[in-house]
Amino acid sequence: MNYKKLITRNKDNYLCLKGIIFSLIILLLFAVNYGNIALAENSINGEKIFNIHCVGCHPQGNNIIRRGKTLKEKALKKYKMDSIEAISYLVTNGKNNMSAFQDRLTKEEIETVAKYVLEKAASNWR
Ligand code: HEC
Repeated sequence: MNYKKLITRNKDNYLCLKGIIFSLIILLLFAVNYGNIALAENSINGEKIFNIHCVGCHPQGNNIIRRGKTLKEKALKKYKMDSIEAISYLVTNGKNNMSAFQDRLTKEEIETVAKYVLEKAASNWR
């Protein structure tokens, strides 16, 4: 057996493996970072949309028109509004004195603001 050749080959394999691990770590770091940025952007946009379109009737998650129908966790649960789907549907189509937003907001914006409402409800609008 050619001993010298075996050693060189092993060294090559080792270098190659190191390269792969290094790339994977870089990729992982990038993915984690990107996720964080996306998350932060989501809540910033949600807040922006809420402050433009919703805060007039729902200051601090209250409801100035139908007092019981607040955006707090307890009320959302009680009226089965505790999911992105339910809130998105309501915001899209409106209900009673709440207007529909399908002409003013895109589907993505509606989902973003719905997510924001659930996040704020989870922390009791603090
Ligand atoms: C003109 C005032 C007004 C505006 C603006 C408004 N809402 Fe409402 N909202 C209401 C009223 C009134 C209700 C109660 C509807 C009903 O009769 O069930 C309500 C209900 C809700 C509910 C359900 C609350 C519950 O406890 O059942 C959610 C969630 C909600 N609004 C989110 C939003 C979001 C998000 C926006 C902004 C995109 C928004 N609203 C804008 C008046 C408004």
